[in-house]
Amino acid sequence: MRAIQIVTTRLSSCLRPIRFELVSSSSSPRLFSNSRRLICTAAATKSNGGRSGSIVAPLVENEEVQKIDVNPPKGTRDFAPEDMRLRNWLFNHFKEVSRLFGYEEVDYPVLETEALFIRKAGEEIRDQLYCFEDRGKRRVALRPELTPSLARLVIQKGKSVSLPLKWFAIGQCWRYERMTRGRRREHYQWNMDIIGVPHVTAEAELISAIVSFFKRIGITASDVGFKVSSRKVLQELLRKYGVPENLFGRVCIIIDKIEKIPIDEIKKELGSTGISEDAIEQLLQVLSVKSLDDLEDVLGGAGEAIADLKQLFSLAEKFGYSEWIQFDASVVRGLAYYTGIVFEGFDRKGNLRAICGGGRYDRLLPTYGGDDIPACGFGFGDAVIVELLKEKNLLPELGQEVENIVCALEKDLQGAAATVATALRSKGQTVDLVLESKPLKWVFKRAARINARRLILVGKTEWEDGSVSVKVLSSGEQFQVKLNDLE
Ligand code: HAM
Repeated sequence: MRAIQIVTTRLSSCLRPIRFELVSSSSSPRLFSNSRRLICTAAATKSNGGRSGSIVAPLVENEEVQKIDVNPPKGTRDFAPEDMRLRNWLFNHFKEVSRLFGYEEVDYPVLETEALFIRKAGEEIRDQLYCFEDRGKRRVALRPELTPSLARLVIQKGKSVSLPLKWFAIGQCWRYERMTRGRRREHYQWNMDIIGVPHVTAEAELISAIVSFFKRIGITASDVGFKVSSRKVLQELLRKYGVPENLFGRVCIIIDKIEKIPIDEIKKELGSTGISEDAIEQLLQVLSVKSLDDLEDVLGGAGEAIADLKQLFSLAEKFGYSEWIQFDASVVRGLAYYTGIVFEGFDRKGNLRAICGGGRYDRLLPTYGGDDIPACGFGFGDAVIVELLKEKNLLPELGQEVENIVCALEKDLQGAAATVATALRSKGQTVDLVLESKPLKWVFKRAARINARRLILVGKTEWEDGSVSVKVLSSGEQFQVKLNDLE
């Protein structure tokens, strides 16, 4: 009760007095919208049958109890320890691949100015924006993607950075999406981008990084492939039909919707931009082309689109991932800023939406007022890949892992156990210290649950001799060791 009195004294300076009472932690409801009801676990207090007792401030008279919804908002997720283990496993692979390729990690705020994301009308991402006015009357938005923030930072750094930049980031993105399998309202995206390289060597390296990632987690070329195309294919066609350059982004966005809305709608939307019927027919015909040879027949041998794509396929051979990629003119991508090669990772069974996607966006920096610097990159979400791993039975089994569990055999050896834990931790060992008097059966159960390798018991006789008992849990081997020799 001493601790409780101290808290009461500290809080007595608050405007309104707060009192505390003891309740069982199993009482319901445990969480209240009113923050003045305080719950804290008090190990020393008498429990009434369940777990340890809790101290709870009673409601002030006439105060209402509002039971909260314990689920997070629709489309968002909690990450309980078991989810966090999977997330960390995934992110560690993202980071390790990026490190192997020599990329530097960056990050940006989740909250950006809204203007950063307002580009071409019709972009789906624009309509999915979580945006609002802050208290300073500024229009802000939760980022739906990382690329505009990257462009902003590159422009801000200006001449102080030397090109090319190879950056990676892992960040949470927000989109008010219709929820489907693997599509959520919040997701994390791994991005790798190269700023300052105008050649297809950059795109080829980026795809190689994604392939490395897939291989690390057990995904093969028979599970996943990349559809590759170039927006220059459309650009060259539009030019041929005299369609003005400024319509290019808009046309790409319309075409990207081909699998989502009826073809007549698409034709109508394309027609509304002023493109002739002939051009529309030709565009739609080109989109069904699935080989570079056929594309050459349609576009003629010359032209940047064919040259870029040929180089990419040749580099894919050298990087060693030819079997992963295929040409598919229907890949256009839904973001207005892409200008050249575009690619998407897809599952070969066709059950899931795009696993990842990216491409070249040489004109994005200038559209924000920056220098004309070429750029390309990709985004890889954390949701679809988990669905795929589940489907393939490739999800790792990740338990909690603490190397040692340290337990005092008597209450008055709790301090000694703390000394042992500190010594081990200072040597880099992970330690779960048992903080209460518990029967050995409980300690063994806990050791198994946290996958401890060793149980370290602090007993009176051994401790008087400066030693502890060590039990290796896998073999059952047990021995005594001086604290100083404990590694
Ligand atoms: P994006 O295709 O919009 O591209 O998104 C990239 C990836 O993020 C998708 O392939 C998917 O894995 C994941 N993703 C997107 N939206 C959701 C969602 N609602 N729920 C779950 N996962 C999602 C971009 O965002 C570009 N900025 C990528 C980029 C980087 N291009 C160049 N650099």
